[in-house]
Amino acid sequence: MRWPAEAIWEAIAPLLPGFTVEILPEIDSTNTELMRRARAGQAEPVLLVAETQTAGRGRLGRGWHSAPGASLTFSLGLPLAPADWSGLSLAVGVSLAGSLHPAIGLKWPNDLWWEQRKLAGILIETAAIGSQRHAVIGIGVNIAPPPTQEGLATPAAALQELLPGIDAPGALLKIAEPLVRTLLAFEQTGFSPFAARFQVRDVLEGREVVLSDGQQGTARGVDETGALLVHTAAGLQRVTSSEVSVRPRPPLKT
Ligand code: BTN
Repeated sequence: MRWPAEAIWEAIAPLLPGFTVEILPEIDSTNTELMRRARAGQAEPVLLVAETQTAGRGRLGRGWHSAPGASLTFSLGLPLAPADWSGLSLAVGVSLAGSLHPAIGLKWPNDLWWEQRKLAGILIETAAIGSQRHAVIGIGVNIAPPPTQEGLATPAAALQELLPGIDAPGALLKIAEPLVRTLLAFEQTGFSPFAARFQVRDVLEGREVVLSDGQQGTARGVDETGALLVHTAAGLQRVTSSEVSVRPRPPLKT
C-alpha cells in the first residue's frame, strides 16, 4: 500500500514541532505501542499507522478486529494539556465525521455511525510523561465492507459505501491534518465550541436508550462538557462515562 506520509508530515509538522509519521506493516496495536513509548518517556508527537494489528483494542476491554486493507488503523500520540478533558472523544468524532462525509452520524461517546451501523471507533488513552500529560488517540475506520457480518456484536458500515473507491491511505489523508487542528483547538477551548457540530450528527437524539446501569430514557443531546443528557423517569440525567446502547424501536406506523 502507498501511504501519503510525506504530504501528511508537511501539513502537520508546522503545527506540531518534532512531529513524525510512521507506517508499519504489522504491530500488536498502535495504541499499545504509543502507550509503551509514552511510558518509556517518548513525548514527541507521532502518527503511527499499522496495515495490520494483531491485537487491536477497542473500548471497555473489547478487541478491535480488522482485515488487512479493509480498514484504516492508526494512533496519534502527542502532549496535550487541556484545562478540562471532558468531551475530547466527542470532539475527535466531530473532526473525523467532518473530514469524511456529511452523512456520517455520531453515537455518544465516540463511535461514527452510518445507517445504524458502526463505521469507525475511537480509543483515547493518556499517560504521564514527567509533569506532562500525553494523549494517544487511536482510530479505526472500516474502509471495505466485511465479507460477513456474522459474529459482529454491532453490524459494520464501510467508508466505501459512502465514498466509492476510497482506500485507507486516502482516508488518512482526509483525516490527519484536521484531527491535529481539532486537538490543538480543544486544548485551548475544551468541548463547548464543538457541541453544536456534535448535535447535528447525534444519532441518539430523541431515541430510547438503555444505560449500562439499567436506566432507560430518551436521549436529549449533550451538554457543553460533552455529557449525554437522558430524560428518565427520575428526571434529566447527565451521563458522563456509561456505555449506552440504543434500544431497538421499530418505526411508528401512522
Ligand atoms: C472502539 O470502538 O471500541 C474503539 C476502537 C478503536 C480501534 C483503534 S484501531 C487503531 C488503534 N489501535 C488500537 O488497538 N485501537 C485503536
